[in-house]
Amino acid sequence: MQLFLDTTDVAVLKSLAATGLVDGVTTNPSLIAKSGRPMLEVIAEICAVIDGPVSAEVAAMDVAGMLAEGRKLAAVAPNVVVKVPLTRDGLMATAEFCAEGIQTNVTLCFSAAQALLAAKAGATYVSPFIGRLDDHGAVGMDLITEIRAIYDNYDFDTEILAASIRTPAHVTEAALSGADCATIPPEVFEALFKHPLTEKGLQQFMADWAKTGQSIL
Ligand code: G3P
Repeated sequence: MQLFLDTTDVAVLKSLAATGLVDGVTTNPSLIAKSGRPMLEVIAEICAVIDGPVSAEVAAMDVAGMLAEGRKLAAVAPNVVVKVPLTRDGLMATAEFCAEGIQTNVTLCFSAAQALLAAKAGATYVSPFIGRLDDHGAVGMDLITEIRAIYDNYDFDTEILAASIRTPAHVTEAALSGADCATIPPEVFEALFKHPLTEKGLQQFMADWAKTGQSIL
């Protein structure tokens, strides 16, 4: 399972990328706004930090605008993945990007029917938003399970990118449900490393080791 960071914070990205466990990055217009920086500049900087796929989202709502913006974003770096909303125009743009060899991430997916259309349009990735479905009383993870079944039924190549992740449990459940990737906020990624029993056990190991008076080196 590929683990992406959902962030535009380059300093945090560098810190977590140093673990060797970050496979890519996703951004969105809200994260770009939060960065307070020019979009092309921050995308270029992220692409210089991480070799894996970096999703950069178009702002246009019409096909022509999406194509113009997406081609400009794709030109920033070879690992840019153009992110488009799951709309009629977004899927038409996705098909054209596919024909041009530009990778796409179809985002704001909230139903299996939408995901079916994204795969038929040739999307590289589809981003079902788990947390936002949970926020509305649904079971977001069920969507991952449904999409996995449909994609396997018809051998679609589109990769399921579990998004809108809120907790470490979301990451585990997305992996169990067959997502190909998960895009994770930095604070949730940090939490993946931690368990109180690990910390407690390590403290006990170190206390017992200290009593030996030994040194390994
Ligand atoms: O960036 C895509 C997605 O992960 C954002 O989800 O609900 O945290 O804004 P959310």
